[in-house]
Amino acid sequence: MTDAQTKLYGIIGNPVRHSLSPVIHNTAFKRMGLNAAYLAFEVESLEEAIRGIRGLGIQGVSVTIPFKTQVIPFLDEVEPVAEKIKAVNTIANEGGRLVGYNTDWRGALGALEEEVDLKGKKVLLLGAGGAARAIGFGLKEKGSQVIISNRSPDKANELAKDLGFVYQPLLSINEPKIDVIINATSVGMSPHNGESPLHKNVLKEGMKVMDIVYEPLKTKLLQEAEERGCRTINGLEMLARQGAGQIEIWTGRKPDIEEIKEDLRRALVRK
Ligand code: ATR
Repeated sequence: MTDAQTKLYGIIGNPVRHSLSPVIHNTAFKRMGLNAAYLAFEVESLEEAIRGIRGLGIQGVSVTIPFKTQVIPFLDEVEPVAEKIKAVNTIANEGGRLVGYNTDWRGALGALEEEVDLKGKKVLLLGAGGAARAIGFGLKEKGSQVIISNRSPDKANELAKDLGFVYQPLLSINEPKIDVIINATSVGMSPHNGESPLHKNVLKEGMKVMDIVYEPLKTKLLQEAEERGCRTINGLEMLARQGAGQIEIWTGRKPDIEEIKEDLRRALVRK
């Protein structure tokens, strides 16, 4: 039940009506016995939205497309990692000061590290957008050797240069020793279920393959990876972990990731 004590949280983005974040947060808040509510705000003017957060004392806000980078100048403080990634996905209202964080990279890395020790591993990272940038930063921290590939070479070259990685055009990838492949593009996302960002010949037995796309849960890439004997990590892992990271920042308490994944699975079935 909401009452005069209820703390308000939310997500700002555009579009945002398809977001699963309200499911993650409201269900977790309830389970944790917190008097809090989380709403989706489809925002036209970022500046006005930030003023609203301050004016209404909204306690915490998730930030999604297209505002993750644009939001930075409006904040009072940004954690150094988020500043380096140039993307904030979480705002905490800390006594009137808006502080920006990034839980995407920790979410992705947490999911990968369940399966593999990333230090020194050869990783093929597909994509050069915000998600790829966050994951690439994490891989650098972990000491992986990363090849970046992307449809637009300019963006990939820029990201490779920023992080000290190697860029290779997708079609020229013929590297037998890849340990981990990560799809950080939107290729394969519903309704384009039949597409994979990668030719299946690149997939070899024993590789770990992670997809950030969670709709469908088993993308064509993960289906083909499974058929070739790879270990797969689906998009729910990163999604659940980035949300759990936000709850920890906002409340100081760690929610149960397995329960969040179960909530998300149920929500995806209902959709
Ligand atoms: P996000 O913040 O989720 O990373 P983004 O910044 O828009 O979103 O990045 C989307 C990524 O998916 C980019 O790497 C994009 O490739 P380009 O840099 O060439 O645009 C990739 N992407 C999206 N649609 C694609 C498609 N149909 N084929 C190949 N790559 C695609």
